[in-house]
Amino acid sequence: MSRLDSFISRMTAQREILNHLRGRLDGLGGPVLELGLGNGRTFDHLRECFPDRRIIVFDRAVGAHKTSVPEPENMVVGEIRETARKFIGINAALAHVDIGTGYDDKDAITLTWLPQLMAGLVAPHGYAVSGLELRHPHLEPLPVLPGVEVGRYFLYRRVE
Ligand SMILES: C[S@@+](CC[C@H](N)C(=O)[O-])C[C@H]1O[C@@H](n2cnc3c(N)ncnc32)[C@H](O)[C@@H]1O
Repeated sequence: MSRLDSFISRMTAQREILNHLRGRLDGLGGPVLELGLGNGRTFDHLRECFPDRRIIVFDRAVGAHKTSVPEPENMVVGEIRETARKFIGINAALAHVDIGTGYDDKDAITLTWLPQLMAGLVAPHGYAVSGLELRHPHLEPLPVLPGVEVGRYFLYRRVE
């Protein structure tokens, strides 16, 4: 698969999963978390999907398109491993993390801390969506959605 195909597959997976969660957060009270603002595309989509929900965004820098920059009070700048740790217990209805690099060695280092962090951020019965596979006893993998390539993007529900 070319890198172009791989990119399209990732974007498609993001859209399919976030669209799938539209309307499924009812009954979950917490915010939505976006770990990795980047260009702000998925942040913008989250805003569309969950217009009434506070969305707190994390990145080491604000580099998004000017139409997709979060309000200052909802933008947390710094290393996610450190900044998001302070939000553990916030009981997010949904946390989306898109910080994979495409380099296995770098992603392996991220995966030494990311699953534990995500499990700590998401409410019981809340959702975790990730570009990297998260192995954690409190994060139950949900079935791969139609249109999502197996192993491309991951959807979990937190068990108690
Ligand atoms: C692939 S981009 C996210 C793209 C985003 N989903 C979009 O639709 O535009 C990843 C972002 O995560 C940020 N990032 C990656 N690892 C990080 C870390 N450990 N701490 C803080 N930010 C990080 C990078 O700065 C980058 O902006």
